[in-house]
Amino acid sequence: MNTDCIAIAHRGASEYAPENTVAAFDLALRLRARHFELDVQETRDGQLAVIHDDTVDRTTNGTGKVADLALAELQALDAGSWFGEAFAGARIPTLEEVFRRYRRKADFHVEIKGKGTRITGLVAELVRLLEVAGQVTVTSFQRERLEEMRQVAPELPCGWLVVNVDDAVIERAQALGLAQICPKAAAVTPELVARLHGLGFAVRAWGVGTEEAMRQVVEAGADGMTVNFPDKLLAYLASR
Ligand code: G3P
Ligand code: CA
Repeated sequence: MNTDCIAIAHRGASEYAPENTVAAFDLALRLRARHFELDVQETRDGQLAVIHDDTVDRTTNGTGKVADLALAELQALDAGSWFGEAFAGARIPTLEEVFRRYRRKADFHVEIKGKGTRITGLVAELVRLLEVAGQVTVTSFQRERLEEMRQVAPELPCGWLVVNVDDAVIERAQALGLAQICPKAAAVTPELVARLHGLGFAVRAWGVGTEEAMRQVVEAGADGMTVNFPDKLLAYLASR
């Protein structure tokens, strides 16, 4: 029986509050989800902003690419109204703000976005400055970012976000010394989980869009998943 599946609030409790905002992370904690997934990107002025898309268009009242905007410009935007009136005025947080606010309360699954090569070093520097290494796992779809992270911060566990897992993924993950492989939920089967566990990897799913997918990932024996509705996952785990 799998009782150890970690509920990772995806961009915070993003089913109920605007993603990647303090409102979404505060709510995750209130829902008793003490693992947060968040997306980080480098701003024009070399700061680390917590935002998912390459542009601010979908999740704020502004327009433009994150990489072309300074942090002050990003933080002048309203990142809550798009989701609901009740969240008007929510701001894009920095990674430092999120670490400082939750470092004694949560674990962080930091996904590196963007194409810049400096971001991994900036994240590693901040993790060390704030002494949160024990609470941070770094993930990315980009193998290059994980290679950089393994170089600059070998102490940090890293997970590779992939759609499917094949031999090539496993070989590259082994070569990089990754702690986790993070397949899309649809690919997570008991056989895959057993194989990856046998090789020493944790298995952490993403792309869990429905409660059915959530249950399937749990029953396959995965170690965790990002989910927009962590309360439902926690209730399901408690009911088993
Ligand atoms: O858990 C990883 C997941 O967040 C990856 O997809 O697009 O939500 O960043 P995305
Ligand atoms: Ca993400």
